[in-house]
Amino acid sequence: MKAQKNFYITTPIYYVNDAPHIGHAYTSVVCDAMARFKRLDNYQVHFLTGTDEHGQKVQKSALKNNKTPLEYCNYFADKFYNLSTLLDLSNDDFIRTTEDRHQKAATKFWQILESKGWIYKSVYEGWYAVRDEAFYAESELIDGKAPTGAEVTWHKEESYFFKLSLFQDKLLALYEAVPDFIQPKSRFNEVVSFVRGGKEYVKGALKDLSISRTSFDWGIKIATDLDHVMYVWLDALSNYISALKFGDENDDLYQKFWLNSTDSPVHVVGKDILRFHAVYWPAFLMAAEMMLPNKIIAHGWWINEGQKISKSIGNIIDPIKEIEWLQSLNVAKDQARDYFRYFLLREVAFGSDGDYSRKNLLIRINAELANNIGNLVQRVLTMIAKNNDGVIVDFSNFTAAEDLLNSGYNLASELRFEMEKFAFDLAINKIILLASKANLFIDNQAPWTLKKAGKISEMNLVLSTLAEIIRSIALALQPFIPYLANKILDLLNIENKERNFEAMTKNHRLKAGHKINQVEIIFPRIENK
Ligand code: MSP
Repeated sequence: MKAQKNFYITTPIYYVNDAPHIGHAYTSVVCDAMARFKRLDNYQVHFLTGTDEHGQKVQKSALKNNKTPLEYCNYFADKFYNLSTLLDLSNDDFIRTTEDRHQKAATKFWQILESKGWIYKSVYEGWYAVRDEAFYAESELIDGKAPTGAEVTWHKEESYFFKLSLFQDKLLALYEAVPDFIQPKSRFNEVVSFVRGGKEYVKGALKDLSISRTSFDWGIKIATDLDHVMYVWLDALSNYISALKFGDENDDLYQKFWLNSTDSPVHVVGKDILRFHAVYWPAFLMAAEMMLPNKIIAHGWWINEGQKISKSIGNIIDPIKEIEWLQSLNVAKDQARDYFRYFLLREVAFGSDGDYSRKNLLIRINAELANNIGNLVQRVLTMIAKNNDGVIVDFSNFTAAEDLLNSGYNLASELRFEMEKFAFDLAINKIILLASKANLFIDNQAPWTLKKAGKISEMNLVLSTLAEIIRSIALALQPFIPYLANKILDLLNIENKERNFEAMTKNHRLKAGHKINQVEIIFPRIENK
């Protein structure tokens, strides 16, 4: 086995002022699919998610609900914690910004910025949107509101500032030197234009950033000035290193996953919080003379049947309810969860907005999983069980199947190509195309006709070849629908140590005499009356 490389991937940490919705579920599933993909591809992976618990927004919500901020946080943090079970997330850690380990590391990070001279005290005067926990310049307001539509209020308070203005050129140099630092490209251009100050370069377009608050106290106290709490975004962004034990005597995880990782650290975020990750975070890290993340990946937004999702319209999509709805259609729980994951990953071209619709979910599941892949698995494995006691024959010299078999062995590299770009939809499509090709092969070879004609060894050749293709398909499906993919691998009787991408090669093929397990239906069609 080749030496393992390290890979670090993070979701944003979620605000605990409300229950998880489809947006949170999506980011988490995306990161999970990538984390699983990399593990299968022989990387040591650290996958982090968690909750962002400080700030005015959370404090206000707690107050409104007659709870202390911490009580309120505990209640919602639990709901986010439970997402891991609900969606079968394989995260290695879950960080809460109210934990000691985080507060210590964030404080340390502040001290580094301060000791290097990047922080000064002054007075902040300007617009603040609590909903976004963001400061806006007068010129950014649209009809008196934040560009996100959030209400803004005028603030004047003593504040510490970070000398962000001195990073305009350094950031632009970074974007130029590492053009795939921000993906996709359209988002990259947006960020560059923000830092430049528009189409033409405007020197000083980037203003110093207020990084402390005095008007409320739910945050990390500044050790040297206890009237101030840390601005929630500086607090929150540092979770990516605090969870790795940054600043700790034993910072093994930081060494391994921040300083020595391949094609990572990767932060996956929604397009609405890109500025914080692609501008502020790298500037903070540069100021601290620390390593930068490898890339920031921004995904689009989900809308609901064509309509923007909002609390006031009342069309928030709750992942728990969606999975329950599938269960109400006679789909078992584990299966329902994989179907929901599948739809999220498959429906949108990564980076674009996606339209959530139950109707489309059923269409996709029935067409792609039940009819295409399911049918293939069912037909082939049932025939092998019935006609050859579930035993595989040697197909290595079956020349008529050479092309098909090679397509199976090439699947891993095709997936790598798509996953490199976070193109989950295209990666899944590659698997579906292989299943279609296999279905065409079975129709052309018609093993049922071979059987009738008494050509039993020819029939066995065709079926064993197809079992081998099913093996590739199931191995490849693991990052996206882990439960169902592993059920197929169980049917094929594949050992655990053979369930990785290394095993997608010819050398690891099903051998003559290998016996498959009792067949059961894996992808039943969903009927919706
Ligand atoms: N707490 C900050 C992140 C701090 S990271 C250091 C935050 N939290 S959030 O809970 O409001 O949002 C978390 C993620 O959910 C964001 O990436 C956001 O883009 C995403 N989504 C929220 N609504 C969404 C949709 N309707 N569709 C897709 N994702 C959306 O921001």
